[in-house]
Amino acid sequence: MKVCYFTATGNCLYVAKRIGGDALSMPQLMKQDKIELSDDAVGIVCPVYAGEMPKMVRLFMDKANIRTDYFFFIYTYGMNHSAAIPNAVTAAAESGTALQYVNSIKMVDNYLPGFEMKNQIETAPAKKIEEQIDGVSRDIAARRNNVPPVGIVQKIFMGVIHNTMAKLLLKGSAAQQYIVNTNCIRCGICAKVCPANNITVTDQVHFSDHCESCYACLHACPKNALHMKNERSTARFRNEHVTLKEIITANERQ
Ligand SMILES: Cc1cc2nc3c(=O)[nH]c(=O)nc-3n(C[C@H](O)[C@H](O)[C@H](O)COP(=O)(O)O)c2cc1C
Repeated sequence: MKVCYFTATGNCLYVAKRIGGDALSMPQLMKQDKIELSDDAVGIVCPVYAGEMPKMVRLFMDKANIRTDYFFFIYTYGMNHSAAIPNAVTAAAESGTALQYVNSIKMVDNYLPGFEMKNQIETAPAKKIEEQIDGVSRDIAARRNNVPPVGIVQKIFMGVIHNTMAKLLLKGSAAQQYIVNTNCIRCGICAKVCPANNITVTDQVHFSDHCESCYACLHACPKNALHMKNERSTARFRNEHVTLKEIITANERQ
């Protein structure tokens, strides 16, 4: 089994590891000219961003040639996955890979403009994360089928939801608007954890224009030197089962 993941703060990497099989980083796979994936089961684990999947994951689905009898798609999210599930069903159909199973796991929400991280971490036990992962892992091991139909009404709803949520949630989220304060020691960790290769560190931190708005850089900064103008939390988050080194290995593109 191969499990392809995209992660900023470790939730998806943790889920990929827990599901089992080979965990493969999508940002690393995207470096290849061609992506050929063939196994008895192949899956994707990624976060919900503004009610759908990250841009890179959608590009990955178009680029990858996936050959399997069992293709699954798991989202992690923090509050509401809204149109993300029909979005995965539609994307799989558009990319020509038959989908057998889609599900979601509610975890810590790393969306800095919306949530105080300390509170998110403290209240995480109520989400029963381990039980959710156990359930999804059992379904996948048993090769269960679960793909809700997506009708025309849902497609329209999906478009409206995404446009509204993207305007609301991603406003001010692009890296060009981040603030680097005087705590910065130019260690370059922000650049190493960026899955989009959007950051260069010289005598200053430079953000380019292809940010995924994943916030990996903000959450991983060891000096808490990176901030958003509209952040609700100065505290930061990384999944307790995932190391900074693992996130760098997953995301470093340089
Ligand atoms: C820009 C952005 C947008 C997000 N949008 C949503 C959302 O619409 N709904 C939701 O429940 N969680 C949302 N989240 C939270 C993440 O989906 C969630 O924390 C996820 O588990 C993070 O996975 P990771 O640790 O692997 O990066 C968003 C996070 C970011 C950074």
